[in-house]
Amino acid sequence: MSPAPIAMASLPSPTLPPLPHAPPGGLPAMSDGLVASHSTRQDRAEQGRLYDLCFGMHDGERLLPWRYDRCPAGATIAPIARDARGALVASYACSPRQVRFRGEDPGECRVGQTGDVMTHPELRSRGVFSALHWRAMSDAHERGWVAAWGLPNRYSGRIFFGKLGWKLAGHIGQWNFVLASTSTARAIRLHSGRLAMWGTPWAAWRGAQRRSALRARASGLRREPLARFDPQVDRLSEAVEPRFDWMVHRDAAYLNWRFFDAPSGRFEALAVRDASDHLVGYAVVQRPLAGEVVGIVSDLLGIDPAAEGAALDGALELLAARGASIARAYAMRGSHWARLLAQGGFRSPRGEKPVGAYALEGDHPLAGATLDTSRWWFTDGDRDAECVR
Ligand SMILES: CC(C)(COP(=O)(O)OP(=O)(O)OC[C@H]1O[C@@H](n2cnc3c(N)ncnc32)[C@H](O)[C@@H]1OP(=O)(O)O)[C@@H](O)C(=O)NCCC(=O)NCCS
Repeated sequence: MSPAPIAMASLPSPTLPPLPHAPPGGLPAMSDGLVASHSTRQDRAEQGRLYDLCFGMHDGERLLPWRYDRCPAGATIAPIARDARGALVASYACSPRQVRFRGEDPGECRVGQTGDVMTHPELRSRGVFSALHWRAMSDAHERGWVAAWGLPNRYSGRIFFGKLGWKLAGHIGQWNFVLASTSTARAIRLHSGRLAMWGTPWAAWRGAQRRSALRARASGLRREPLARFDPQVDRLSEAVEPRFDWMVHRDAAYLNWRFFDAPSGRFEALAVRDASDHLVGYAVVQRPLAGEVVGIVSDLLGIDPAAEGAALDGALELLAARGASIARAYAMRGSHWARLLAQGGFRSPRGEKPVGAYALEGDHPLAGATLDTSRWWFTDGDRDAECVR
């Protein structure tokens, strides 16, 4: 697709609510010849193709309808821009999640994750992304969402943290657990340096020690495969939520959509039950692809340290059984999840990435908590991206 040439001019803009960094005088105009609108399900195939082009992927058309339209927390806000010939040349996505502050149900208000921001390569640096950003924020504010957050990359980071006024909310890092000291595991550990590579057998031994400790604290708990989540998990989530300032409510509808109905079909789960057969924890893993050795601990919940330990040990066992030699998880710096991974024998990250956030309702406690990721319960299952690497 080669978009039509454009010249810069103003188009009438709707008004923008008084947000801290919003440009004065309403939404920024689109470049001449470009028209912004809200996308609908009919736009998904074109958005999917732009996604493949901008991110070097191949499954956008299959992925985006699941991500934007089927999440039980609500539809994604996804403004788009079309050129004079009607071709879709830019798209922005902010996906809602039902996040709770210390277990309080905030009703209809949501926190959005910004992702899939993309402008056709021939139309970059003309303010198209920024104009769609303010349309999305305006829409989110109107719907009563209290904050937005995202994982900017090197292209979008300087724009978000620059003129769009996003705050640095924390850092996310990659934690690795060596399940087996294979040659491929050593090659992967080389990314963390030569010392890490040569230390792979030691890391595997140390990991096994830590897992014994997890097992010891989990005596009396039973694990079993979980084919689908049922309403028991709502009660488990509600029991855990008061411990955190920011946690996505995990009910059965949400978790089944997130993992079992996701397009890749790569997720598997296990339940942790106590002597009375109550669900006290669960873990979800992302299996390695054929020929690959990295598996992901995608999500986990435990009612107490024993259940957390049983779930984490179970996730590692499951990944090993599926052929993984490295188990991986991403965690926010200083968070409870990071501490749990450290206790479980995961190696701490070399290098982290920034997390950005923007408060739409500055006075709301959930907006305050969104600005500090160390207060979150956050796993890879909380991302809008289906799979991680
Ligand atoms: C990141 C991305 C969406 C930015 O899109 P864009 O439409 O080029 O973004 P904008 O034009 O709004 O802003 C980019 C730059 O253009 C500048 N700009 C804004 N309005 C402008 C205008 N009218 N004329 C010229 N430049 C302008 C901005 O100040 C900004 O400058 P900076 O790079 O110095 O910060 C785009 O590069 C992209 O699609 N990348 C590939 C996909 C990707 O990685 N997305 C990020 C995922 S987290």
